[in-house]
Amino acid sequence: MRKKIVAGNWKMNTTLPTGLLLVSEILKNTDIPKDVILIIAPPFTHLSEVSKQLKNTSIKLAAQNCSQFDQGAYTGEVAASILKSVGTEYVILGHSERRAYFAETDLVINSKIKIALANGLKPIVCCGEVLEEREKNIHFDVVAKQLKGMFEGITPDQFKDIIIAYEPVWAIGTGKTASPAQAQEIHAFIRINIEKAYGTELAHSTPILYGGSCKPSNAKELFANADVDGGLIGGASLVAKDFIDIAKSF
Ligand code: PGA
Repeated sequence: MRKKIVAGNWKMNTTLPTGLLLVSEILKNTDIPKDVILIIAPPFTHLSEVSKQLKNTSIKLAAQNCSQFDQGAYTGEVAASILKSVGTEYVILGHSERRAYFAETDLVINSKIKIALANGLKPIVCCGEVLEEREKNIHFDVVAKQLKGMFEGITPDQFKDIIIAYEPVWAIGTGKTASPAQAQEIHAFIRINIEKAYGTELAHSTPILYGGSCKPSNAKELFANADVDGGLIGGASLVAKDFIDIAKSF
């Protein structure tokens, strides 16, 4: 059985006080399904405090990014080792907003994946096409190329800690969602790509999450697909009830 995962990507939202309040609202829900792993990814500045809040709970902590460098003179960057030291367990890498606004390439993301793994962080690795690529019907090629570039040199032993998030860029924050059939089609394609590179066992065990305007009203039909193992949630993860309702949608 593959893990079911719902991860909340808070992006650049909440102050420390409102972030801590959101966590306490999420924690009030004692009826979170036991077989669903809930992950929250607040801004860097919140991680240390949120980590304390999550102690002795089942909710896991993620960062939204990490540096591709080990440590040293990289002003403004945050190293994987620093994230690990404050209790972070996962890190979102390769998000399309990092690609679009901060010029991250598959090569840079590849370095980040390696450094995250070397420091004991589990990467949630994003892929997905922009609208123009979908319209040209080249989205399969785009995603295959991203996966190849991002996982270059990652061994099967390392790959077992990877979670993949398919996020069509045209669906992120737009209110447009991929249809369940569109999601299933490309998730199955991603799984075949994993199988080719890493074999059947890892292809079967790797969680592939859907992201892009996933909300309580559409999560059920998305998660019902054989190859959709949960969601990476942006906007809806900022409302405790919505986030929990999504987790209950399996
Ligand atoms: P959204 O964002 O749910 O607000 O579309 C998803 C994401 O970017 O991870």
